Amino acid sequence: MTDKHKRVVAQSREGIELNRSALDRWIDSAAWLDRPAKVVQGAILAFYKALAGPGQGLKSLLHGTKPLGHPLHPAVTAVPLGGFTVMFLADWLAIFFRVVPPLIGTFALIIGILGMVGSAATGYTDYTGTSGMARRYASIHGLIMTIVLLVMIASLLLRYQPGSGLVFAGVLVSSLAYLVILFGAFLGGHLSFGMGAMVNRSAFVEGVTDWTDVGSIVDLSDGKLVRAQAGDMPVLLVRLGDRLNAIAATCSHAGGPLDEGKLEGDIVTCPWHSSRFCVTDGAVKDGPATFDQPAFLVREENGKVQVRLPAPLH
Ligand code: FES
Repeated sequence: MTDKHKRVVAQSREGIELNRSALDRWIDSAAWLDRPAKVVQGAILAFYKALAGPGQGLKSLLHGTKPLGHPLHPAVTAVPLGGFTVMFLADWLAIFFRVVPPLIGTFALIIGILGMVGSAATGYTDYTGTSGMARRYASIHGLIMTIVLLVMIASLLLRYQPGSGLVFAGVLVSSLAYLVILFGAFLGGHLSFGMGAMVNRSAFVEGVTDWTDVGSIVDLSDGKLVRAQAGDMPVLLVRLGDRLNAIAATCSHAGGPLDEGKLEGDIVTCPWHSSRFCVTDGAVKDGPATFDQPAFLVREENGKVQVRLPAPLH
């Protein structure tokens, strides 16, 4: 590479760095977050494990795996955001214009706190399935929201005193915490929409609806996990006795390779965060994944294995 080329490459890298926000760059470099994050993740997983079967059921419930079949945390977060927004408006309308009773803001604060406890339960559960840069974002997001929750509880204790009505210091504290929660919500939004946390990994592939060769039948020994490619979608092939099964090989949770997972009966466990899927129909059995794996129809033609989706995915 000539000096001129090296200079151009160096300049382009610098340009790309400048394009990233200061927040991205700071979080990207915050390696100190990784060790405490792993400790917290380990503690949460140990808690669920200690509860045995019911613990796994509770974990899947809080991820949204069952019965919702959709991430639960984003839905639950609407409650505290709505509650705290009403609190903020009602408090200041009560103080400046006296057009709403002072207790309205306090009731909204209580609803917000209850919603935030639910958000913390679902959020910390989802947190166990994060890694890398997404985990650093999730760590900051979770830390901010936890501090806000504690501040809101302190405000509740401070703000309303029978006889003297609304205490200004309590309102001020919760109002400042409300502004901080907006920043925390921004980070949570970036985690989902910018980094794809909990986004269905099959959402952006087409798959194939025409019969497509994916390999030879002789490569499929009983119970062996085999990776193949059908169009733009990696496929997991599994032979169970006489039956050939094929589901998407990319885990719907965060893209783990299911062909490197563990098969027990007709259930494959993802090697990354232990989501479990049925290889016969792609149904998710345990989270953190909340979406099923696309399942293929499979046939054998002259020693070749062919697959196709029963219908387009989108
Ligand atoms: S990638 Fe997370 S469970 Fe599969």
